[in-house]
Amino acid sequence: MTQVDFLTWQISIQQRIESALDACLPPTTCHPTRLHQAMRYVTLEGGKRVRPLLCHAAGEIFSAPLVALDQMSCAVEIIHVYSLVHDDLPAMDNDVLRRGKPTCHVKYDEATALLVGDALQSLAFHVAAQPLASVPAETQVAMLGLLANAAGSRGMAGGQAIDLESTGKSLEIVELEFMHLQKTGQLIQAATLLGAHVGGANAQQVQNLVRFANRIGLLFQVVDDILDAEASTEVLGKTAGKDAASNKPTYLTLLGAKQAHALAAQLCEEAHNALLPFGDAAVRLHQLTDYIVARKS
Ligand code: IPE
Ligand code: IPE
Ligand code: MG
Ligand code: MG
Ligand code: MG
Repeated sequence: MTQVDFLTWQISIQQRIESALDACLPPTTCHPTRLHQAMRYVTLEGGKRVRPLLCHAAGEIFSAPLVALDQMSCAVEIIHVYSLVHDDLPAMDNDVLRRGKPTCHVKYDEATALLVGDALQSLAFHVAAQPLASVPAETQVAMLGLLANAAGSRGMAGGQAIDLESTGKSLEIVELEFMHLQKTGQLIQAATLLGAHVGGANAQQVQNLVRFANRIGLLFQVVDDILDAEASTEVLGKTAGKDAASNKPTYLTLLGAKQAHALAAQLCEEAHNALLPFGDAAVRLHQLTDYIVARKS
Protein backbone atom coordinates (compact mmCIF):
# COMPACT_ATOMS: atom_id res chain seq x y z
CA MET A 1 0.00 0.00 0.00
CA THR A 2 1.25 3.44 -0.84
CA GLN A 3 1.57 6.53 1.29
CA VAL A 4 -1.39 8.02 -0.60
CA ASP A 5 -3.54 5.09 0.51
CA PHE A 6 -2.47 5.70 4.08
CA LEU A 7 -3.30 9.41 3.95
CA THR A 8 -6.73 8.73 2.47
CA TRP A 9 -7.42 6.10 5.13
CA GLN A 10 -6.13 8.38 7.92
CA ILE A 11 -8.36 11.27 6.83
CA SER A 12 -11.40 9.05 6.47
CA ILE A 13 -10.98 7.67 10.02
CA GLN A 14 -10.35 11.17 11.40
CA GLN A 15 -13.59 12.35 9.79
CA ARG A 16 -15.55 9.39 11.16
CA ILE A 17 -14.17 10.10 14.63
CA GLU A 18 -14.97 13.82 14.42
CA SER A 19 -18.63 13.13 13.71
CA ALA A 20 -18.81 10.26 16.23
CA LEU A 21 -17.35 12.53 18.94
CA ASP A 22 -19.76 15.28 17.96
CA ALA A 23 -22.64 12.84 18.43
CA CYS A 24 -21.32 11.66 21.85
CA LEU A 25 -21.02 15.15 23.34
CA PRO A 26 -24.01 17.00 24.78
CA PRO A 27 -25.05 20.05 22.68
CA THR A 28 -23.82 23.49 23.74
CA THR A 29 -27.43 24.48 24.42
CA CYS A 30 -27.73 21.74 27.08
CA HIS A 31 -27.70 23.03 30.68
CA PRO A 32 -25.06 23.67 32.17
CA THR A 33 -24.11 25.27 28.87
CA ARG A 34 -20.67 26.59 29.86
CA LEU A 35 -19.46 23.12 30.88
CA HIS A 36 -20.82 21.56 27.70
CA GLN A 37 -19.30 24.31 25.55
CA ALA A 38 -15.93 23.70 27.22
CA MET A 39 -16.18 19.92 26.71
CA ARG A 40 -16.84 20.45 23.00
CA TYR A 41 -14.10 23.11 22.77
CA VAL A 42 -11.41 20.71 23.98
CA THR A 43 -12.62 17.58 22.18
CA LEU A 44 -13.62 18.69 18.69
CA GLU A 45 -11.57 20.00 15.76
CA GLY A 46 -8.10 19.16 16.90
CA GLY A 47 -5.54 16.53 17.58
CA LYS A 48 -4.07 13.82 15.45
CA ARG A 49 -6.53 11.15 16.68
CA VAL A 50 -3.67 8.64 16.96
CA ARG A 51 -5.52 6.45 19.48
CA PRO A 52 -8.65 6.12 17.30
CA LEU A 53 -6.39 5.37 14.32
CA LEU A 54 -4.72 2.60 16.30
CA CYS A 55 -8.07 1.20 17.43
CA HIS A 56 -9.30 1.11 13.83
CA ALA A 57 -6.04 -0.28 12.46
CA ALA A 58 -6.04 -3.10 15.04
CA GLY A 59 -9.71 -3.82 14.42
CA GLU A 60 -9.14 -3.98 10.68
CA ILE A 61 -6.83 -6.99 11.15
CA PHE A 62 -9.93 -8.90 12.24
CA SER A 63 -12.44 -7.13 9.92
CA ALA A 64 -14.19 -5.60 12.93
CA PRO A 65 -17.34 -3.53 12.23
CA LEU A 66 -16.39 0.14 11.76
CA VAL A 67 -19.23 1.58 13.85
CA ALA A 68 -18.16 -0.51 16.84
CA LEU A 69 -14.56 0.64 16.33
CA ASP A 70 -15.78 4.26 16.25
CA GLN A 71 -17.46 3.72 19.61
CA MET A 72 -14.39 2.33 21.39
CA SER A 73 -12.14 4.86 19.60
CA CYS A 74 -14.25 7.71 20.95
CA ALA A 75 -14.08 6.30 24.48
CA VAL A 76 -10.26 6.24 24.43
CA GLU A 77 -9.96 9.62 22.70
CA ILE A 78 -12.27 11.22 25.27
CA ILE A 79 -10.10 9.88 28.13
CA HIS A 80 -7.03 11.17 26.28
CA VAL A 81 -8.58 14.64 25.87
CA TYR A 82 -9.43 14.73 29.58
CA SER A 83 -5.81 13.82 30.38
CA LEU A 84 -4.60 16.73 28.22
CA VAL A 85 -6.96 19.22 29.92
CA HIS A 86 -5.66 18.22 33.36
CA ASP A 87 -2.03 17.92 32.15
CA ASP A 88 -2.16 21.58 31.07
CA LEU A 89 -3.48 22.92 34.40
CA PRO A 90 -1.24 25.29 36.39
CA ALA A 91 -0.92 22.59 39.08
CA MET A 92 0.56 20.25 36.49
CA ASP A 93 2.42 21.45 33.35
CA ASN A 94 0.94 24.96 33.36
CA ASP A 95 0.51 25.21 29.60
CA VAL A 96 -1.41 27.92 27.77
CA LEU A 97 -1.58 26.41 24.26
CA ARG A 98 -3.04 23.06 23.17
CA ARG A 99 -3.93 21.91 19.67
CA GLY A 100 -3.21 25.43 18.46
CA LYS A 101 -5.78 27.01 20.80
CA PRO A 102 -5.72 28.47 24.32
CA THR A 103 -5.88 25.66 26.90
CA CYS A 104 -9.16 24.96 28.67
CA HIS A 105 -8.31 26.80 31.90
CA VAL A 106 -7.11 29.83 29.90
CA LYS A 107 -10.19 29.97 27.66
CA TYR A 108 -12.59 29.17 30.52
CA ASP A 109 -11.16 28.87 34.07
CA GLU A 110 -9.42 26.30 36.27
CA ALA A 111 -12.55 25.02 37.97
CA THR A 112 -14.18 24.47 34.59
CA ALA A 113 -11.09 22.64 33.36
CA LEU A 114 -11.26 20.30 36.37
CA LEU A 115 -14.92 19.61 35.72
CA VAL A 116 -14.37 19.15 31.99
CA GLY A 117 -11.87 16.42 32.85
CA ASP A 118 -14.22 14.81 35.36
CA ALA A 119 -17.15 14.89 32.96
CA LEU A 120 -15.13 13.61 30.00
CA GLN A 121 -13.87 10.66 32.01
CA SER A 122 -17.44 9.69 32.90
CA LEU A 123 -18.59 10.26 29.34
CA ALA A 124 -15.87 7.95 28.04
CA PHE A 125 -17.18 5.05 30.12
CA HIS A 126 -20.76 5.87 29.19
CA VAL A 127 -19.77 5.67 25.52
CA ALA A 128 -17.76 2.47 25.99
CA ALA A 129 -20.69 0.84 27.81
CA GLN A 130 -23.21 1.33 25.00
CA PRO A 131 -24.37 -2.02 23.60
CA LEU A 132 -22.06 -3.47 20.97
CA ALA A 133 -24.02 -5.89 18.82
CA SER A 134 -20.91 -7.70 17.57
CA VAL A 135 -19.26 -8.23 20.97
CA PRO A 136 -20.35 -10.72 23.70
CA ALA A 137 -21.40 -8.91 26.90
CA GLU A 138 -18.67 -10.55 29.01
CA THR A 139 -16.03 -9.43 26.51
CA GLN A 140 -17.36 -5.87 26.65
CA VAL A 141 -17.23 -5.90 30.47
CA ALA A 142 -13.58 -7.01 30.23
CA MET A 143 -12.96 -4.17 27.74
CA LEU A 144 -14.39 -1.65 30.22
CA GLY A 145 -12.03 -3.03 32.87
CA LEU A 146 -9.09 -2.74 30.48
CA LEU A 147 -9.90 0.91 29.77
CA ALA A 148 -10.36 1.69 33.47
CA ASN A 149 -6.98 0.18 34.29
CA ALA A 150 -5.25 2.05 31.50
CA ALA A 151 -6.66 5.38 32.69
CA GLY A 152 -6.12 4.86 36.41
CA SER A 153 -3.37 4.92 39.01
CA ARG A 154 -1.62 1.94 37.42
CA GLY A 155 -1.94 3.58 34.02
CA MET A 156 -2.14 7.15 32.76
CA ALA A 157 -2.98 8.86 36.08
CA GLY A 158 -0.22 6.92 37.85
CA GLY A 159 2.26 7.89 35.15
CA GLN A 160 1.27 11.52 35.53
CA ALA A 161 1.89 11.25 39.29
CA ILE A 162 5.38 9.88 38.63
CA ASP A 163 5.96 12.68 36.09
CA LEU A 164 5.16 15.31 38.71
CA GLU A 165 7.27 13.60 41.40
CA SER A 166 10.20 13.35 38.99
CA THR A 167 10.25 16.97 37.90
CA GLY A 168 13.63 18.48 38.72
CA LYS A 169 15.16 15.05 39.34
CA SER A 170 17.29 12.75 37.26
CA LEU A 171 15.74 9.31 36.73
CA GLU A 172 17.36 6.01 35.85
CA ILE A 173 16.51 4.79 32.34
CA VAL A 174 14.25 2.03 33.71
CA GLU A 175 12.34 4.56 35.81
CA LEU A 176 11.89 6.88 32.85
CA GLU A 177 10.69 3.98 30.69
CA PHE A 178 8.19 2.96 33.37
CA MET A 179 6.85 6.53 33.61
CA HIS A 180 6.45 6.81 29.83
CA LEU A 181 4.78 3.42 29.56
CA GLN A 182 2.32 4.41 32.27
CA LYS A 183 1.46 7.99 31.34
CA THR A 184 1.27 7.47 27.58
CA GLY A 185 1.79 3.80 26.73
CA GLN A 186 -1.17 2.43 28.65
CA LEU A 187 -3.83 4.40 26.75
CA ILE A 188 -2.11 3.64 23.45
CA GLN A 189 -2.16 -0.03 24.38
CA ALA A 190 -5.82 0.17 25.42
CA ALA A 191 -6.74 1.76 22.07
CA THR A 192 -5.02 -1.05 20.19
CA LEU A 193 -6.43 -3.88 22.30
CA LEU A 194 -9.97 -2.49 22.29
CA GLY A 195 -9.89 -2.52 18.50
CA ALA A 196 -8.67 -6.11 18.55
CA HIS A 197 -11.36 -7.19 21.04
CA VAL A 198 -14.07 -5.59 18.91
CA GLY A 199 -12.81 -7.84 16.12
CA GLY A 200 -12.81 -10.97 18.31
CA ALA A 201 -9.03 -11.45 18.55
CA ASN A 202 -7.93 -14.61 20.37
CA ALA A 203 -5.57 -14.70 23.37
CA GLN A 204 -2.43 -15.27 21.28
CA GLN A 205 -3.32 -12.43 18.92
CA VAL A 206 -3.95 -10.13 21.90
CA GLN A 207 -0.56 -11.11 23.35
CA ASN A 208 1.16 -10.23 20.07
CA LEU A 209 -0.59 -6.86 20.03
CA VAL A 210 0.41 -6.20 23.64
CA ARG A 211 4.05 -6.57 22.56
CA PHE A 212 3.47 -4.22 19.62
CA ALA A 213 1.58 -1.65 21.69
CA ASN A 214 4.23 -1.65 24.40
CA ARG A 215 6.82 -0.60 21.82
CA ILE A 216 4.75 2.10 20.11
CA GLY A 217 3.48 3.41 23.45
CA LEU A 218 7.05 4.08 24.51
CA LEU A 219 7.97 5.26 21.02
CA PHE A 220 5.12 7.77 21.03
CA GLN A 221 6.37 9.49 24.20
CA VAL A 222 10.03 9.35 23.12
CA VAL A 223 9.04 11.20 19.93
CA ASP A 224 6.88 13.62 21.97
CA ASP A 225 9.96 14.44 24.08
CA ILE A 226 12.13 14.85 20.95
CA LEU A 227 9.57 17.14 19.30
CA ASP A 228 9.29 19.24 22.46
CA ALA A 229 13.00 20.01 22.06
CA GLU A 230 13.26 20.16 18.27
CA ALA A 231 9.96 21.43 16.79
CA SER A 232 8.40 24.89 16.85
CA THR A 233 5.39 26.04 18.85
CA GLU A 234 3.54 26.82 15.60
CA VAL A 235 3.96 23.34 14.19
CA LEU A 236 3.33 21.58 17.52
CA GLY A 237 0.26 23.62 18.46
CA LYS A 238 1.61 23.53 22.04
CA THR A 239 4.47 25.44 23.64
CA ALA A 240 7.81 24.06 22.47
CA GLY A 241 10.74 23.70 24.85
CA LYS A 242 8.50 23.16 27.88
CA ASP A 243 10.26 20.01 29.14
CA ALA A 244 13.65 21.68 29.44
CA ALA A 245 12.10 24.86 30.87
CA SER A 246 10.26 22.80 33.49
CA ASN A 247 13.22 20.51 34.28
CA LYS A 248 11.42 17.34 33.22
CA PRO A 249 13.52 14.22 32.92
CA THR A 250 13.24 12.92 29.32
CA TYR A 251 15.24 10.65 27.05
CA LEU A 252 16.91 13.79 25.73
CA THR A 253 18.15 14.83 29.14
CA LEU A 254 19.24 11.29 29.98
CA LEU A 255 20.71 10.17 26.66
CA GLY A 256 21.13 13.26 24.51
CA ALA A 257 19.37 13.90 21.18
CA LYS A 258 21.40 11.49 19.06
CA GLN A 259 20.73 8.49 21.28
CA ALA A 260 17.08 9.48 21.74
CA HIS A 261 16.67 9.36 17.94
CA ALA A 262 18.46 6.01 17.85
CA LEU A 263 16.13 4.67 20.52
CA ALA A 264 13.10 5.83 18.49
CA ALA A 265 14.45 4.00 15.43
CA GLN A 266 15.03 0.85 17.51
CA LEU A 267 11.53 0.94 19.03
CA CYS A 268 10.08 1.45 15.55
CA GLU A 269 11.85 -1.67 14.30
CA GLU A 270 10.72 -3.69 17.33
CA ALA A 271 7.13 -2.57 16.75
CA HIS A 272 7.25 -3.68 13.10
CA ASN A 273 8.71 -7.04 14.15
CA ALA A 274 5.94 -7.59 16.71
CA LEU A 275 3.41 -7.31 13.85
CA LEU A 276 4.98 -10.04 11.71
CA PRO A 277 2.59 -12.80 12.89
CA PHE A 278 -0.29 -10.82 11.35
CA GLY A 279 1.19 -10.65 7.85
CA ASP A 280 -0.44 -8.20 5.41
CA ALA A 281 -3.53 -7.78 7.60
CA ALA A 282 -1.52 -5.43 9.84
CA VAL A 283 -0.63 -3.00 7.03
CA ARG A 284 -2.36 -0.05 8.74
CA LEU A 285 -0.51 -0.71 12.01
CA HIS A 286 2.79 -0.84 10.10
CA GLN A 287 1.94 2.47 8.43
CA LEU A 288 0.90 4.03 11.73
CA THR A 289 4.19 2.96 13.31
CA ASP A 290 6.09 4.79 10.56
CA TYR A 291 3.80 7.79 10.98
CA ILE A 292 4.40 7.92 14.75
CA VAL A 293 8.17 7.99 14.32
CA ALA A 294 8.18 10.44 11.36
CA ARG A 295 5.49 12.84 12.57
CA LYS A 296 6.34 16.51 12.86
CA SER A 297 3.76 17.41 15.52
C1 IPE B 1 0.04 14.40 23.54
O1 IPE B 1 -0.65 13.42 22.81
C2 IPE B 1 0.25 13.93 24.93
C3 IPE B 1 0.97 12.68 25.02
C4 IPE B 1 0.46 11.62 25.54
C5 IPE B 1 2.34 12.62 24.56
P1 IPE B 1 -0.91 13.60 21.26
O2 IPE B 1 0.36 13.99 20.57
O3 IPE B 1 -1.60 12.39 20.76
O4 IPE B 1 -1.91 14.85 21.23
P2 IPE B 1 -3.08 15.20 20.23
O5 IPE B 1 -4.23 14.32 20.60
O6 IPE B 1 -2.60 14.94 18.82
O7 IPE B 1 -3.37 16.64 20.48
C1 IPE C 1 1.45 14.02 28.88
O1 IPE C 1 2.78 14.08 28.62
C2 IPE C 1 0.93 12.69 28.93
C3 IPE C 1 -0.50 12.72 29.35
C4 IPE C 1 -0.97 11.73 29.99
C5 IPE C 1 -1.38 13.84 29.01
P1 IPE C 1 3.27 15.54 28.25
O2 IPE C 1 3.05 16.48 29.37
O3 IPE C 1 4.65 15.42 27.69
O4 IPE C 1 2.27 15.91 27.05
P2 IPE C 1 2.30 17.28 26.28
O5 IPE C 1 3.69 17.42 25.73
O6 IPE C 1 1.91 18.35 27.24
O7 IPE C 1 1.29 17.07 25.18
MG1 MG D 1 2.83 16.38 31.41
MG1 MG E 1 2.27 18.50 29.19
MG1 MG F 1 5.39 16.44 26.00
